[in-house]
Formats: sequence, C-alpha cells, structure tokens
Amino acid sequence: APPVRYEAENATYSAGSTVDSDHTGYSGTGFVNTANEVGAYVSFGVSATGGGTADLTLRYSNGTTSDRPMDISVDGIVVAAAKSFPPNGSWDSWADVTVGVPLAAGTHTVRATATTANGAPNLDHLEV
Ligand code: GCU
Repeated sequence: APPVRYEAENATYSAGSTVDSDHTGYSGTGFVNTANEVGAYVSFGVSATGGGTADLTLRYSNGTTSDRPMDISVDGIVVAAAKSFPPNGSWDSWADVTVGVPLAAGTHTVRATATTANGAPNLDHLEV
C-alpha cells in the first residue's frame, strides 16, 4: 500500500513548540518548530494495516551546521536511539530520514524526541 502521510502540525507536540510557516517547501499548512531543548518532541498517532516491517519516514529541515538527533519510539519503546538528523543546507529545504521497524497491524504512537539542547529539527510530516 502507498504510505500514509501524517502532518506534524496535526500531531501532538511538546510545550513550547510552535506551528510555523515562515520557511518554504513544507507539506500541509506548516511545520512544527519544537522548543530548543532536550526532550522536545512530536508524537504521531498512526495506523498500520499490514503487519511486518514498516518504514517510518520523517521529513525534516535542519538549517544549522549541527546534527539534531532524536530518539524514535513506537508505543513508548525506543526503536532508534539518537537517530541522526544532519544539517541539510537550509531551513527552506527538506530531507527524509527512514527507520524500518516491526509494526503490528493496529494503531500506534510514534514519537520523535530531541536528545540535545538544540531540540528537534523542524518537522514537516511522518509517512508510514
Ligand atoms: C531558526 C529557524 C527556525 C528553527 C530555529 C531552530 O530560528 O527560523 O525555523 O526552528 O532556527 O534553531 O530550531
């Protein structure tokens, strides 16, 4: 089945995060700019139909020169610790990072949580 897209601006995000639209190239109506702190997160409710391994693809922007790693968790279990979200050139461009995870059919919570004081990169959407 084709991937289903979940917009970050429609997801749940940590206090101090904002939905912004002051950079170009995002999907939907904007993107989430999390607070620049450890523990800043965006949490998506997703639905899986197939079972087996699913690709979780996060579209992000990191216009700085420093990595913005995040823990990727599914239903509270970290499946990719401090996954790298490296600089991608500009806040007006977007890149994809994919994590393959076992995902039983049904509903799940996928959370991306910043592990450094710089917070998360800007987050546009998740595709599952
Ligand atoms: C800049 C940029 C924001 C980004 C922020 C950050 O202010 O315009 O979109 O979220 O840097 O460092 O996180």
